[in-house]
Amino acid sequence: MAVEISDVLEIVERQNRWRGQETINLIASENVQSPAVKQVECNDFMGRYAEGHPNTSDTDNRYYEGTRYIDEIESMATREFIKLAGCEQADVRPISGNAANTAVALALLRGGDSVIVNSIATGGHISHAPIGVVGRRIQTRGQSLIPGKDNSISLHYWPTTPDGYHLDTEKCVALVDQVRPKLVMLGKSLFLFPEPVQEIAACCRGLGIPVLFDGAHVLGLILGGQFQNPFSEGAHFINASTHKTFPGPQRGVILGNLKSDEELKWWRSIDRGVMPGSSSSHHLHTLPGLVIALREVRAHGAAYVKQTIANAKALGRALKDEGVQVEAEEFGFTESHQLAVNVSNFGPGKDIARSLADNDIILNYNMLPGDTDARNPSGLRIGVQEMTRYGMKEGEMGELASLIKAVISGGSAQEEVNRLRSRFTEVLFV
Ligand SMILES: Cc1ncc(COP(=O)(O)O)c(C=O)c1O
Repeated sequence: MAVEISDVLEIVERQNRWRGQETINLIASENVQSPAVKQVECNDFMGRYAEGHPNTSDTDNRYYEGTRYIDEIESMATREFIKLAGCEQADVRPISGNAANTAVALALLRGGDSVIVNSIATGGHISHAPIGVVGRRIQTRGQSLIPGKDNSISLHYWPTTPDGYHLDTEKCVALVDQVRPKLVMLGKSLFLFPEPVQEIAACCRGLGIPVLFDGAHVLGLILGGQFQNPFSEGAHFINASTHKTFPGPQRGVILGNLKSDEELKWWRSIDRGVMPGSSSSHHLHTLPGLVIALREVRAHGAAYVKQTIANAKALGRALKDEGVQVEAEEFGFTESHQLAVNVSNFGPGKDIARSLADNDIILNYNMLPGDTDARNPSGLRIGVQEMTRYGMKEGEMGELASLIKAVISGGSAQEEVNRLRSRFTEVLFV
């Protein structure tokens, strides 16, 4: 007798209808996949094993048999990533941005080393933090490093300018020179403006320090040519998720632009950091979708991210006109897909995010520069990349701003939210 699945199907159906058709999705780390990506996601690659690297006609690089087509699709994804990013190396095996950061930390850091990162309070990601993979990397003998204890990783934080949304270039370069870290990490989760990669990388390259740009959020913006290009500014690595502004399946990637013998040693260590360090098999069923997403980004990525950034700026202006305090106004609010909004005049960020969700506007509460309690932040983070993919433009950003204002002022707007969303259900830029 077949097992009962109707309750499971019903949950899936409800999720598809609610988040796929009814809600306005503004979580900055998410996106929606194209019908073509979804079409190839349910396949026999799911559950198969393929540790190592694709076999070639004269080398056997796998620890398992049966990988003929896995080899083809993994090689395709690697080749197409290298071509699109214009870099030298790509490792498509990390299953997420966090796993990509884990692999690099395992490869390049040892107990007692120093790293410079963005702090969480200024937008950095948890994986860069004392409790994340960079702060707590596992040593070779299997000990877990306790932050602040002997032989732990020493984390130093990039100094910012007084507005809190930009790095202070001069002070950052001086910090590199003073600390001489074993790795520097740029890029963050609350990511409004480009970072001074060029100046920091010039200093690091002179000192033989690897420069990792965490482009988890902005990979799509970079590949669409609408944000800084960390490689042309001197970064050695870009780590990223493949499901945020890059609208592919949930995975991660490590891109490298390494040329000298010394730099190529880093890549060989990272290879071991990926497997066995942070993965064995790697969710192979999402590889065909990754290749399709790479082709979509190649064909339509520039137009998509141009509209995304225009929408973020338009939403910033419209919210400001509604009397909502949008951060970084003096810098035009944003140069990315994100906005930071201070809602302390209306209530705690957490409560405001919840009431927006109750009205089908989905986003997350967030610490803003100056906040000290991660559980009681004053801000919201908004990302417009998903609704842009559904076709919203500057005009809809005005409508959205007035719905957000209505809810955060204590009103309700669910019906209007659902009506607005019902006009935008087809995925574009594919
Ligand atoms: C800067 C940054 N790095 C890494 C990650 C982790 O990526 P993933 O969720 O793909 O593991 C995130 C997640 O949002 C991020 O913002």
